[in-house]
Amino acid sequence: MNTVHTLPQLRAAIAQARSAGQRIALVPTMGNLHAGHIALIKHAVARADFVVASIFVNPLQFGPNEDLDSYPRTLAADQKQLLEAGCSLLFNPSPEEMYPQGMAQHTNVSVPGVSEGLCGGSRPGHFDGVATVVCKLLNMVQPDMALFGEKDFQQLAVIRKMVADLNIPVQILAVPIVRDHDGLALSSRNGYLNAQQRASAPALYRSMQAVQAQIKNGRRDYATLFEQFKHDLQAAGFRLDYVELRDAHSLKLADAQSTQLVLLAAAYLGTTRLIDNLIFDL
Ligand code: PAJ
Repeated sequence: MNTVHTLPQLRAAIAQARSAGQRIALVPTMGNLHAGHIALIKHAVARADFVVASIFVNPLQFGPNEDLDSYPRTLAADQKQLLEAGCSLLFNPSPEEMYPQGMAQHTNVSVPGVSEGLCGGSRPGHFDGVATVVCKLLNMVQPDMALFGEKDFQQLAVIRKMVADLNIPVQILAVPIVRDHDGLALSSRNGYLNAQQRASAPALYRSMQAVQAQIKNGRRDYATLFEQFKHDLQAAGFRLDYVELRDAHSLKLADAQSTQLVLLAAAYLGTTRLIDNLIFDL
């Protein structure tokens, strides 16, 4: 597996794969890879001939008080995992390579509707940063397919809408959430948790499962259910950011027509923000 850091190097490697008739997959990441990322790579390896991973901690999607500087950067370990998973090429650009004129005057890709509320409500500008960088990466690699995790459910909806609205010729594939043995969704940010917080962290998924079970049993008093959820999380040391039930296809508020639902939640343990979601049929 080659690692390239510049756009000309990337274009040259892609051109070679293309002229050999290979199907190309892109897996965009911010690095500090774990089994969730590697599941995306393995899905890609099973479906494409040439798998490109990108590692870029995208400054454009971090808010001013967020963890851009402390975000873990573990290139050597990431390269090893990518190689073992069968990745063909790693694109690891610098911020200057991605934003040569700086970020302030850069063209912005903003996806209305699905970007609003949920994580978009708590992290203003975040999804513009995500959509902009993913649009750039798709144009740089021009893959046949790009893979994203359901862990970031709203992000996936934003990317799907961007690709549809802008007619980007790529197939978007979604990969289910990979969890730790105790149910905690794997995330690079789990590394911020101390031992006590890590022990409490699975309460997020457990409490979401309890809400899901109640809804499946016919409960519809969501306000009371979510209040109980908030209390359960507080008892485990969390501070709730949001919990919402949405239509899994439109991401709009769930209504009587919704057949597949998604329960989405975000909560803080100390300063670490964890997100999770649960997709289920009614
Ligand atoms: P990052 O958080 O590194 O995640 C990269 C990809 O891995 C995303 O598609 C994410 O949904 C997926 N992923 C993360 N944890 C997962 C898990 N436990 N199970 C399954 N998939 C998981 O998401 C980003 O980076 C960035 O916003 C990016 C799309 C790269 C744009 O900068």
